[in-house]
Amino acid sequence: MGKKINLTIDGKKIQAMEGDKILWAALENDIYIPHLCAMKEQQQSPFAGCRLCFIEIEGKPRPVAACTEPALEGMVVNTRSESIDRLVEAGFNLIMSNHHIDCKNCAASGACELQKIAKERKIRLKPKKLVQLDMNLPKDHSKDCIIYDPNKCVLCGRCVTACRTEGTAVLGLAYRGFERMVTTFGDIPLGETECSGCGSCANVCPAGALIQTNK
Ligand code: SF4
Ligand code: SF4
Ligand code: FES
Repeated sequence: MGKKINLTIDGKKIQAMEGDKILWAALENDIYIPHLCAMKEQQQSPFAGCRLCFIEIEGKPRPVAACTEPALEGMVVNTRSESIDRLVEAGFNLIMSNHHIDCKNCAASGACELQKIAKERKIRLKPKKLVQLDMNLPKDHSKDCIIYDPNKCVLCGRCVTACRTEGTAVLGLAYRGFERMVTTFGDIPLGETECSGCGSCANVCPAGALIQTNK
């Protein structure tokens, strides 16, 4: 078992287990850091794809990702500054430029991590300066208990990990660039795969792209 260490985040003195990622130490102490791709169970091998969890650590020349940075004794961490806020806003705008925003009709509304980030950081959900790209891809209703809407996917990769560890490993990230998306192997509808309908993917989706319909 690791040892407890002391660190300071945004002026608040907290304790964490040595080596735990700063993201989880902060969240456990009610200090919010935006995050989409990280899952605590994966903290030893974070994917670090969303680039929203930037923080500054005193003594380090550049911002780092809180989901990959281990907590160490005596660290002094800041989650907010002009440059951090700019980085997070730019990253969030880019993600949202590709997201079909329809909160009024979205089953995730209220429990949505995108809404939370926008609220916490006072960022508009709909980016002002970027052109909104609507791919208008068809939804997958082929599985009776899960709906997949690729137009809402923010490519965080959580569902792929969850499906691999708790489900039947039918989901994967495919293609490159603007065409990158979560799909099934062979790009076939979910209902035609070995999907067990366990709902692990929907449980971790932060953006209403995978919704379980029979909870
Ligand atoms: S996923 Fe969130 S931001 Fe997107 S439409 Fe649903 S509630 Fe709105
Ligand atoms: S479907 Fe949801 S969990 Fe999966 S990558 Fe897209 S946003 Fe993330
Ligand atoms: S949560 Fe750290 S990069 Fe996504």
